[in-house]
Amino acid sequence: MRRFSTSYLDETRRGMWESRAALSPLSLADRDLVLDVGCGTGELSSVLCEESSGSVVGLDRDRSLLREVSVPTIQADAVELPVRDDAADLVVCQALLVNLSDADIDRALAEFVRCSSDLVAVIEPDNSAVNVESTVSEESDLAARAREHYISGVGTDVTLGAIPDRLREHGLTDVKTRRYDHVRTIESPYGERAVEAAKRKVTGSRIAQQRDTLLAGGMSDKAYESFRSGWREMGRAIVEAMHAGTYHRKEVIPFFVTVGRIV
Ligand SMILES: C[S@@+](CC[C@H](N)C(=O)[O-])C[C@H]1O[C@@H](n2cnc3c(N)ncnc32)[C@H](O)[C@@H]1O
Repeated sequence: MRRFSTSYLDETRRGMWESRAALSPLSLADRDLVLDVGCGTGELSSVLCEESSGSVVGLDRDRSLLREVSVPTIQADAVELPVRDDAADLVVCQALLVNLSDADIDRALAEFVRCSSDLVAVIEPDNSAVNVESTVSEESDLAARAREHYISGVGTDVTLGAIPDRLREHGLTDVKTRRYDHVRTIESPYGERAVEAAKRKVTGSRIAQQRDTLLAGGMSDKAYESFRSGWREMGRAIVEAMHAGTYHRKEVIPFFVTVGRIV
């Protein structure tokens, strides 16, 4: 099972839903009970809670992440929800299906349909369309190379994005999709998280964590060693630029909100 740390989820999700227009098809103001499946540390659950007058429950298989969640939680598997039929009027997930095998995506969607009396929403990224711009010239290319090998090696479809046909196959109607670009910017003055991220690049620790996946994605041992050393060099250039106050990085991660209605 692919595990996510609280620090990773905190770093990658913080501020994601500052703009909430793409969530309007979820009709959050009209919801009575929302189930957030694969909620992780509950970044989306908190947004759902703020926008809905009803109750929100987070569900995840990883107990250690649920400790961080601010709404009531259930520890369970998305493919076998311990929830009665029609219990919620919205079942939603964010960046869950990209971590499941194709067969488990269908099992999870079947469970979402069974447990919802009204709407099912899936919010999934397309990691092949991520774009990084940086004042440190090599960062954009190195990030693209890491992403390419990661996508090939990871074993699930992390480029899933919009899946309207898949929702229709599960009997949902009135299916709508919206693109939402999650923009993450690092600029002066640099916060603690930006400094920590730069330090991780200097040590190459996150690249080391991904070693097996990068190798499975076609990188040779030798290419990996040289890639990691280039990555660390880039990290040092970033730290230097941060000291000079000239480092600027913008990353755009396209997410797709696909919503369907139970017949
Ligand atoms: C990328 S994280 C996304 C977390 C959260 N939805 C967010 O966007 O911040 C994926 C989450 O799905 C959970 N997960 C993966 N497979 C699962 C499964 N079969 N059942 C329940 N949760 C699962 C992981 O534990 C993790 O918390």
